[in-house]
Amino acid sequence: MDLAEVWERARQELKGICSLCRVCDGVVCAGQVPGMGGIGSGAGFQNNVTALARVQLNMRTLHAAARPNLKTSLFGVELSLPVLGAPMAGAGVNFRNRTTEEDMSRWNIIGAYQAGTLGSCGQGPDPRILNAGLAAMAETGGAGIPVIKPTPWEEMAPLIEQVEKAGCTALGMDIDAAGLINMRRAGYEVGPKTADEIARIVSSTKLPFILKGIMTVDEAKRAADAGVAGIVVSNHGGRCLDGTPGTADVLPAIAQAVKGRAKVLMDGGIRSGVDVLKALALGADAVLVGRPIIAAGFGGGVEGVRLLFDHYRDQLETAMILTGCQSIGEIGPHIIYQA
Ligand SMILES: Cc1cc2nc3c(=O)[nH]c(=O)nc-3n(C[C@H](O)[C@H](O)[C@H](O)COP(=O)(O)O)c2cc1C
Repeated sequence: MDLAEVWERARQELKGICSLCRVCDGVVCAGQVPGMGGIGSGAGFQNNVTALARVQLNMRTLHAAARPNLKTSLFGVELSLPVLGAPMAGAGVNFRNRTTEEDMSRWNIIGAYQAGTLGSCGQGPDPRILNAGLAAMAETGGAGIPVIKPTPWEEMAPLIEQVEKAGCTALGMDIDAAGLINMRRAGYEVGPKTADEIARIVSSTKLPFILKGIMTVDEAKRAADAGVAGIVVSNHGGRCLDGTPGTADVLPAIAQAVKGRAKVLMDGGIRSGVDVLKALALGADAVLVGRPIIAAGFGGGVEGVRLLFDHYRDQLETAMILTGCQSIGEIGPHIIYQA
């Protein structure tokens, strides 16, 4: 199987849900939530892609970085490349039951694991969603990051324990799900958390705790003050709040503000190894990929996802050679072109 076949099959499998556009930029699917799109006008999703596209790189070839080392370490785990699978859930609502939570989780988590990196899973009103993720992580000996919802402490505490017992790499929370009123309607009391509540979660678990959905410097600082191990600069792929800026636009100031205190991950619109390089040059330690992972899963299952990670690794390696970066740590703002 190769990636061309994966995309061809994905196109069939996702007919009427996702067009597998040449560039996955949120234009055709604007407003398709549930589905693959961004909410409302689709601007949050589209801004992610355009913000990255605006970044231009300095091509540099007079150096000795001929065989870059792409490995990096995150939350105590060595990764073969600084790219992770983003949590993706909702086989029923988003994909009209053309797949199952179990399959989606396996594609993401085992595909990433086979590529030498980490996948993740989400949580939803149906307990099967988180359980499917944990079952896939059990196959990898716990490698992966479950990302739970910001629910009241009484509902959250048993889940934290469950994740801890499963021996997962880290625990995440998509705090930007705070406004998902469809969850509330399903009897699921999601909502915002105060910095004190975040600190309580941090101190309740031995696992590194990652807050996903940070878009401002102020909140990044407060998350770091509360002791989180990492943040994900993310607007949930533009699916929570219409009109959010591109994550690549807000990333540099946020990364600068919490440098050395919390790992900074970023997602939204990462579509190639060159995009990975750009995000790292803007200050991210690693990135997450969402929609392309799911499409690759529909097209080729676990192997399709592994092939996608391999493809990003090849592209990133080429881009590192052509910008003179021997290691992930050497990637920095100096490779960004300033007019
Ligand atoms: C269909 C779909 C389902 C998602 N489910 C979740 C989820 O359960 N939990 C979560 O934190 N984020 C979820 N996200 C957001 C992704 O984790 C990620 O932030 C976003 O998709 C990244 O942008 P990209 O798709 O442009 O790479 C979902 C996104 C999509 C498109």
